[in-house]
Amino acid sequence: MATKREGKGDGTDGGRLDRRSFLRIGAAGLVVAGGSAAVAVLAGRGREAGGPGPQVDGVEFSRTPMRQFRLRAAPLEWDVGTGHASPAWGYEGRVPGPEIRVREGERVRIVLENGLPEPTTIHWHGLPVPHAMDGVPELTQEAVPPGGTFVYEFVAGPAGTYWYHSHAPYQLDRGLFGPLVVEPGREPLDYDREQILVFDDWLLDPDHPRPDPNAAGGMMGMMEGMGGMRGMMRGGAETHVEGVRAQPLYDAFTVNGVLGTEHAPIEVRRGERLRLRLINASASHVVPVRVAGHRLTITHSDGRPVEPFTADTVLLGMGERYDVLVQMTNPGTWALESLNAAQRAAGLRVPIRYAGARGSATGVSETGLVARYSDLRGLEGTESRRPDRVYDLELSGGMMRGPTVWTINGRRYPDTEPLEVVEGERVRVRLFNMSMMPHPMHLHGHFFDVVAPDGRPAGRPIRKDTVVLDHMQTHVIEFTADNPGPRWFFHCHNIYHQHGGMATEVRYRT
Ligand code: C2O
Ligand code: CU
Repeated sequence: MATKREGKGDGTDGGRLDRRSFLRIGAAGLVVAGGSAAVAVLAGRGREAGGPGPQVDGVEFSRTPMRQFRLRAAPLEWDVGTGHASPAWGYEGRVPGPEIRVREGERVRIVLENGLPEPTTIHWHGLPVPHAMDGVPELTQEAVPPGGTFVYEFVAGPAGTYWYHSHAPYQLDRGLFGPLVVEPGREPLDYDREQILVFDDWLLDPDHPRPDPNAAGGMMGMMEGMGGMRGMMRGGAETHVEGVRAQPLYDAFTVNGVLGTEHAPIEVRRGERLRLRLINASASHVVPVRVAGHRLTITHSDGRPVEPFTADTVLLGMGERYDVLVQMTNPGTWALESLNAAQRAAGLRVPIRYAGARGSATGVSETGLVARYSDLRGLEGTESRRPDRVYDLELSGGMMRGPTVWTINGRRYPDTEPLEVVEGERVRVRLFNMSMMPHPMHLHGHFFDVVAPDGRPAGRPIRKDTVVLDHMQTHVIEFTADNPGPRWFFHCHNIYHQHGGMATEVRYRT
């Protein structure tokens, strides 16, 4: 656990001041991409000056040094806390991979080393990185072969809670994911302690996956009950239908790589304010989370700031993130847990313990107020111009067509119709879920505004990169085509649905 006071320096150390500042220069020949040597030199000069650097005429770049990371993907044996390790794949020998924490505006270089027996890539989920850095095999780069390396490089921003994961088929589900935090230059939130929680679904016995009887349908929504929406594979044994897998029955839920019940208690003190960065990295489960005895004040959705909204429960679709603040005013030992009984029984339950408190964690008795998209107000403004293009996407599949067939407007990727756009256009997409399963739709390379959650126009839309549609639900989203691809992936983040065909592309016309 990083605490704000201990871990972040919080503006009191010189290094951090340095990293926060920006330098304006206009000298000919100094371009950001080719300027690492220049950056280092300027950083030295900036330190002497102890403040913002000189302004020449308007070329702005960070005087921070390059932040470098290595992520080696390799098979490993991982024990989620049962005492028995099972085969998994991970970055840097662990699941989830190491936390990458950088500051807005910093240049980040991440070297991927592929120690896997298959080609791989890394996608920086939510970050609008340049196209060549987006990590989608075929669309943005050739997958990195076994033994190969690839250097990802981008400028971090905007600030927010993100995550990274392999974008090669089904690899996310083996454990190839990790948290990524971009801190703002100046933290506007006031809190004492921070905890990242990465939720994942896990198969303890990968050799005996049972097909999920509910995976093809059944009445289940975001608050699915016992046995609803479980699934998976981990390290083998899967059902192949044209290379597409059916969702198996998951038997465990992990938090930061271990069963939540095996996770170290989150230690707090009375009067503190705790910031939680919640990340749903699971392959196929919407996670409804609540902290017993406390309310959650949502401050960010998918890393984008929202007007603080206090609720009891947040729902996280696969790929979604929420930042919440919890006021620690109720001493005792409490559980942060899923409201889904099956998920909770399978491990989605982490103790939060006040200093001096004893005893086992008290759980949640009822759902309380569940935050919906329509409850939240965006803080970043939106473009109110008329859309240049409107697309209608109907999500369907499962049921009649079988558990491995998932469609957009009746077609399966790569036969789905791409969304054609021209740079600078405002694009409206109406999403409608005809199927029985929830679908978290994720757009690469862009944020979008949820202009009409549940089909009803929002005054101040929230900005997101992943939006969950429950059974028969409609959301209207809009984005500005400001990151020329040419091709960006747009897909359901249930990996079984994604590979079953529920995907399309946003294609820039050139
Ligand atoms: Cu989080 Cu296309 O991915
Ligand atoms: Cu889906």
